[in-house]
Amino acid sequence: MKGKTPKQSKTILTDMVLPGETNPLNNLFGGELLARMDRAASIAARRHSRRIVVTASVNHVAFNRAVPLGSVVTVEAKVSRAFKTSMEVYIDVWIEDRESGERTQANEAIYTFVAVDETGRPIAVPEVIPETNLEKERFDAALRRKQLSLLLAGKIKPHQATELKALFE
Ligand SMILES: CC(C)(COP(=O)(O)OP(=O)(O)OC[C@H]1O[C@@H](n2cnc3c(N)ncnc32)[C@H](O)[C@@H]1OP(=O)(O)O)[C@@H](O)C(=O)NCCC(=O)NCCS
Repeated sequence: MKGKTPKQSKTILTDMVLPGETNPLNNLFGGELLARMDRAASIAARRHSRRIVVTASVNHVAFNRAVPLGSVVTVEAKVSRAFKTSMEVYIDVWIEDRESGERTQANEAIYTFVAVDETGRPIAVPEVIPETNLEKERFDAALRRKQLSLLLAGKIKPHQATELKALFE
């Protein structure tokens, strides 16, 4: 199976924040942002694998900045690393200033998707070939994040989290 670059899975969703999508402080409701990120990440995973994909885990979400009502929000998702059947998708969220058009990073998240066949069984995916320095950094740290996620989900034992352990040695 031929490897693909993160650029080949890049998915951008741009939309506004409307009144029905905000909390009492008139900022974007967290669950709404999670849904937008899940949608963009799912399309990125599909573009990488050309398979049916399912969300296996939300590994990390940082709501660093509130996103006010009326903001134009851009969710950018790319597959940062693929393993056998799973893919890590890195999501960056930007808001843009109305007057200058300048973009500020508001949030980021990391999701794991699994490619499955028509019966829902996991199926192999192409590898990721990172190109830029940031893509290489994200690629290198992805195995550690996968082990942490599997450990927290009780799917591996601590002694199997070798990459993670190496951090503390
Ligand atoms: C995701 C799912 C396909 C995994 O099935 P499974 O029987 O656990 O299959 P496996 O144990 O072979 O895992 C498949 C891959 O997912 C990875 N994985 C499973 N759980 C994971 C987790 N919590 N975090 C990170 N990776 C995970 C495994 O490491 C494996 O990766 P690899 O093949 O690249 O090494 C299955 O649990 C499922 O269908 N879940 C429901 C998905 C869904 O409906 N999502 C929407 C939520 S509403």
